[in-house]
Amino acid sequence: MNPRSIGVFDSGLGGLTAVRQLRRLMPSENIIYFGDTARVPYGNRSRETLLQYARQDMRFLSGFDLKAVVIACGTISANCLEELRRESAVPVTGVVEPAVERAAAATRSGKVGLIATRASVGSGAYERAFRRLDPALEVRALACPLFVPLVEEGRCRPGDVVIETVAREYLAPLREAGVDTLVLGCTHYPLLQEVIGGVMGPDVALVDVGAEAAGACRDLLAAEDALADRPAGSVRFYTSDRAVNFQRLASLFLGEEAGGAVEQVDIFQYG
Ligand code: DGL
Repeated sequence: MNPRSIGVFDSGLGGLTAVRQLRRLMPSENIIYFGDTARVPYGNRSRETLLQYARQDMRFLSGFDLKAVVIACGTISANCLEELRRESAVPVTGVVEPAVERAAAATRSGKVGLIATRASVGSGAYERAFRRLDPALEVRALACPLFVPLVEEGRCRPGDVVIETVAREYLAPLREAGVDTLVLGCTHYPLLQEVIGGVMGPDVALVDVGAEAAGACRDLLAAEDALADRPAGSVRFYTSDRAVNFQRLASLFLGEEAGGAVEQVDIFQYG
């Protein structure tokens, strides 16, 4: 048993979809969440900038008494996982491998799609992970750079003409490719599950990277006998931009009221 907290970070609100899954799977755990809302989106930035931001995010989290970190950001997981693992005193779970394992197990046709940010797709990390697991899989990867800003604006519901139009246009090549499994390679995308599912059709399995990472973190802690056993855990939220903006949308991502205080931190001092 280990009562210490799990640290989670993302560029903004998207990582809260992973927090939702962590809470579902491990309701006894205390979670510290950092959303870098001052610098979102990460998805179009260079690897050097991403590494600098990710190190600052990790340095902020390392001020807490943690037993594990979940990188609830596809972009950082795809570009910086190795460095962050090497530099961290506690185990670090990224979203790429757990999602790839799920997708490889789910596909029947061997045709798998991946949608993510430009920096995630550009890193090639998902394709490499697929190739390691099963070189015979056909993987079609597509960047969808407009999805994150639209989700951060709350434009994610079916019937919203903007998101529906963007989704139809982005996803057309994947429909044509005939994929039967689609990795939602960014933690913002579960908010678009209905919209994406509507475009792709009911026969395409959607893989939620945050949910898979939450499962991998649970397995890791269970294997080390490091789960908490208190009746109910808590979540503390930190954000690098105004707390009210975070609060306004947090419940949409969490599926519950954000609850508890949201505190603004000066992430630039963790340089
Ligand atoms: N939610 C993040 C991801 O999973 C980042 C998106 C962004 O900031 O561009 O990639």
